[in-house]
Amino acid sequence: MKFTDSPVIELSVSDTLLSIQQDNGSMHVGTSVWPCSLVLVKFAERWKFAAADTPNPYAEELLSFGNKRGVELGAGCGAAGMGLYLLGLQDIIITDIAPVMPALKHNLKRNKGALKKNLKTAQLYWGNEEQIKSLKPPFDYVIATDVVYLEETVGPLISAMEKLVSDKGVVLLGYQLRSPEADKLFWEMCCGVFEVHKIPHQHLHPDYAYEEADVYVLRKQNS
Ligand SMILES: C[S@@+](CC[C@H](N)C(=O)[O-])C[C@H]1O[C@@H](n2cnc3c(N)ncnc32)[C@H](O)[C@@H]1O
Repeated sequence: MKFTDSPVIELSVSDTLLSIQQDNGSMHVGTSVWPCSLVLVKFAERWKFAAADTPNPYAEELLSFGNKRGVELGAGCGAAGMGLYLLGLQDIIITDIAPVMPALKHNLKRNKGALKKNLKTAQLYWGNEEQIKSLKPPFDYVIATDVVYLEETVGPLISAMEKLVSDKGVVLLGYQLRSPEADKLFWEMCCGVFEVHKIPHQHLHPDYAYEEADVYVLRKQNS
């Protein structure tokens, strides 16, 4: 599974087909569907529906979405948020910056038949304290995929994650190295705030796993 420039990305999630329109020609990276979003959703789907006789390290603790609150940061076209919603994370707010909201809202509308609900959206710039407060944290799940690519946004991103996630909650992070400088700073800063667990590569969905993409679980330290 590789990044594709096809104008429409299809993602099947527990028998429902999401159809996500992207515009790789726009000046905003959020109007494209980035592969880590698909990798995260298909990882969650794999373990939500693993056969009962298969040892399952994730279904109970990590992917038990019922009655939980989630927020997605830098959602772009909304693939991860919509996918996790279909897997049971029903109380989710999907966020991004203002110029990306039209692409996000367009895709939520496009998939309304599959989602059977208008999912909540909000504008969120990671450094904006008022916007963070207006989301009414804490959240059980903070979702973020392919959001680490600019050194100057790493601090606000980690701070937003810390403020939004509950003490016992988790950050589900789809990750791919995009900038060595941002990568170095991100993991340095993360280690001061979160306990970091990398999902073993062989636990990703076999059709949605490739060398560069990873899923991480971040939990607040001392919680
Ligand atoms: C590479 S795109 C990934 C989009 C989507 N998560 C995906 O995986 O397809 C990075 C996203 O982060 C958002 N972003 C970047 N800086 C941000 C900031 N300071 N505050 C909020 N969102 C930001 C962008 O608008 C964009 O949607």
